[in-house]
Amino acid sequence: MNVLKSMVHNFNSGPSILPKTVFEQASQAILDFNHTGLSILEIGHRTKLFQEVMDEAIALVKELMQLDADHEVLFLHGGASTQFFQVPMNLLDEKETAAYLDCGTWGTKAIREARIFGNVNVVASSADKDYTYIPKGYKIPNNSKYFHYTTNNTIEGTQMHSIPDSSVPLVADMSSDILSRSMDFNRFALIYAGAQKNIGAAGVNLVIVNKQVLGTVSRKLPTMMDYRNHIANGSMLNTPPVFAVYVCLLTLRWLKANGGIAAMEETNQAKARLLYDTLDALPLFTPKVAREDRSLMNVVWIMEDEQLEKAFLDTCRENGMVGVKGHRSVGGFRASLYNALPMESVIVLTDLMKDFSQQHS
Ligand SMILES: Cc1ncc(COP(=O)(O)O)c(C=O)c1O
Repeated sequence: MNVLKSMVHNFNSGPSILPKTVFEQASQAILDFNHTGLSILEIGHRTKLFQEVMDEAIALVKELMQLDADHEVLFLHGGASTQFFQVPMNLLDEKETAAYLDCGTWGTKAIREARIFGNVNVVASSADKDYTYIPKGYKIPNNSKYFHYTTNNTIEGTQMHSIPDSSVPLVADMSSDILSRSMDFNRFALIYAGAQKNIGAAGVNLVIVNKQVLGTVSRKLPTMMDYRNHIANGSMLNTPPVFAVYVCLLTLRWLKANGGIAAMEETNQAKARLLYDTLDALPLFTPKVAREDRSLMNVVWIMEDEQLEKAFLDTCRENGMVGVKGHRSVGGFRASLYNALPMESVIVLTDLMKDFSQQHS
């Protein structure tokens, strides 16, 4: 089993690779959590044992992201897709308008959900070129209730490299680049991210909300949908996804021990640079997105020759590479370079590309 694992290079887009130590510690906790003789899967969420897990996970997010006292950290269910509607439900009244940026599949879904609750002003879109770039120069009207955007477009492979300059409260879907680069996270009114890429196991969402923006809508909110109830109950309004939160804690500990977000960013930049430089140098492969908007997390490219695409995918598979096929909606290839992916995997992939190019040109 270990031999097989060491041969696999996991470029999956999510759920995706996590640090090996996290797998080991999570496995151990299933057998015997903290020498209690109990599995993490059988402890009550109201116990001191789990309270300590939740408290430490929240404290680590606050520390790593340098959040101020107004920003609350929540671990919620339902995936990022639930946040597509929970955000407008909590922040947008029926007659109010929120500004949205349409720059990918997930942003489009967020827009669709927001329209159920209020007015949506799509301030810019890159749909005209299949979302292969990030729109620039758009205006966010000052009277918008908030401005929503996706920091990293997982499927299309684009990323916003700076925070939009606006006085409007910012809301960001950071599912696929959270904890991968330094930012002033306190500038955001609300941040959400499914855990299954850079934070931990699938089944839990990280939500960071500035409590000052809550309580301004007139509609009645279901108990489970109101962020204020989750804040008041420390993310334990009902049974939390205990194991998924524990895996987040392990990943957050790993992240801190390995230098925090700044260190991740440095390695992430080096990994992406190597892959993009290789793609740019080899005519057989064509990166799909505008150079200045390239994602450091999800690198997307195509090959002009479809026969060769199949041959390259087969070569990847034979060499232990997993998850290199592009999303079914865009085709081609995608390699996801999340925090836990070692540089070594990118070296193996780029060496393979060079060999393949030599053989086929
Ligand atoms: C940027 C982004 N937003 C939202 C989602 C949807 O997440 P979930 O499946 O957790 O609802 C994904 C999933 O990959 C994503 O990449």
